[in-house]
Amino acid sequence: MKDKKQILEDKLAQAYLGGGQERIDKQHAKGKLTARERVHFLLDEGSFEEMGALVTHRTKDFGMEKQVFYGDGVVTGYGTINGKQVCVFAQDFTVFGGALSETHAEKICKIMDLAMKIGVPVIGLNDSGGARIQEGVRSLGGYADIFHRNVMASGVIPQISAIMGPCAGGAVYSPAMTDFTLMVENSSYMFVTGPNVVKTVTNEEVTSEELGGASTHATKSGVTHLTAANDIQCINQIKQMVSYMPQNCEDTPADIPFEMGDEIREELESIVPENSNQPYDMRHVIDGIIDTDTFFEIHKDYADNIVVGFARLGGKSIGIVANQPMSLAGVLDVDSSKKAARFTRFCDCFNIPLLVLVDVPGFLPGTDQEWNGIITNGAKLLYALSEATVPKVTVITRKAYGGAYDVMNSKHIGADFNYAWPGAEIAVMGAKGASEIIFRKEIKAAKDPEAKLAEKEAEYADLFANPYSAAQRGFIDEVILPKNTRRKLIKAYSALQNKVSTLPKKKHGNIPL
Ligand code: COA
Repeated sequence: MKDKKQILEDKLAQAYLGGGQERIDKQHAKGKLTARERVHFLLDEGSFEEMGALVTHRTKDFGMEKQVFYGDGVVTGYGTINGKQVCVFAQDFTVFGGALSETHAEKICKIMDLAMKIGVPVIGLNDSGGARIQEGVRSLGGYADIFHRNVMASGVIPQISAIMGPCAGGAVYSPAMTDFTLMVENSSYMFVTGPNVVKTVTNEEVTSEELGGASTHATKSGVTHLTAANDIQCINQIKQMVSYMPQNCEDTPADIPFEMGDEIREELESIVPENSNQPYDMRHVIDGIIDTDTFFEIHKDYADNIVVGFARLGGKSIGIVANQPMSLAGVLDVDSSKKAARFTRFCDCFNIPLLVLVDVPGFLPGTDQEWNGIITNGAKLLYALSEATVPKVTVITRKAYGGAYDVMNSKHIGADFNYAWPGAEIAVMGAKGASEIIFRKEIKAAKDPEAKLAEKEAEYADLFANPYSAAQRGFIDEVILPKNTRRKLIKAYSALQNKVSTLPKKKHGNIPL
């Protein structure tokens, strides 16, 4: 008879093998790591403590009582990432294709409940064929139990989902409700209904990759915030992302030690071109302001007329929202407004101060935009920035026109410090458009209408295409030289460190959705 120690060792050895060596080899042959390998790579060495390794399913239908695997297709537990405690679950594709059973769902719920109790981020590594078909509605109930927890945890602890294999049907809605989604190129896909159903219903021919691969969701739908070439890169991105976050909504992100020097950045003086219609890359402005190589961009390939991401400034974690003059002249449109609003809300949930860099000629005109609800979608960003109570600082690098001036963290909607560079143009609209409207009669009556327009344009530009009207009214706190921006901002965030700002008592706001 086996001794007790041997029984335990045998069971654990079996659990560690998941669906068996053959299926592990298949997983490796696809260029994928196993669930356990992913967890070990994600967490600090030796820090993983597994929970529920010996859980099994309870199904007897379809001969399932003969197919029992310890762990039931998901590895769950807790550990640390660079010393920070996190909870994690990783679906094991070698066991029933990582399909979600009642017990598999219970394990995920248990780890989510633990994350909520101890106030730490929860990270899900998804790789699953969806609902465990042999379990029917019990499996669907399991999904809903997870969804409900995702919603309850939203804004309480950071939630991150990596899609490292299939993720289809109802399974997509857990990642969709978490804060950030990452996808691995060529080995993951997400869709509500797959290519076969699409063909039957709409007669469209589409591959899995086209329909819901990483690049599709990174560029077209915006469903994924980041993509990675392989599992290792994906996990490294998670580790980096977590470093900017606090553990929960009552915590603040950890500072990195920093000593103030002169912090003058001459290179910022020459980024914005003389001609205000010429583009420049706002990322160069970001790089000139923040601590070296600390920008972690989110949603890079989606709505690239706005740039969002985490960075460090004077060692502190900040969230940046910046118009990008390189794309569509930096206008706000439906997608960029949604992208920036969502990121703003994450930062506000988790006490990450916001920096808004403004160079915006207005909202994108056109039927496409109006019919797709630029009014409601633009309002999302206005709402998100107005509602945010974290330290909020704005720098207008060039244009701040029209309603977009208000939206982009203006003084009026609660920004704490508003700076403008000397070349800033803060006005209702560009000088040409404005002159054509208000001096229309005069221009029409002139002998040389073109010359008159140019004259009026110059007159208007003199009056309004500068930061001084706004500065006179205190809408801009200070006009600063570009090279001094980093120094000003470090001092500003330091002053705002203990900012207290509360919202009126309410159940919750009603952001335009
Ligand atoms: N329920 C139960 N078992 C499942 C499953 C599910 N939803 N999805 C996959 N599996 C099992 C397969 O039977 C297979 O078992 P085996 O190792 O004992 O042979 C194993 O998981 C791997 O699946 P396989 O089809 O060989 O892998 P693949 O890489 O070729 O394809 C999928 C992966 C996900 C595309 C494919 O398995 C699939 O279409 N699954 C069903 C998806 C679905 O309709 N889900 C339910 C609705 S959400």
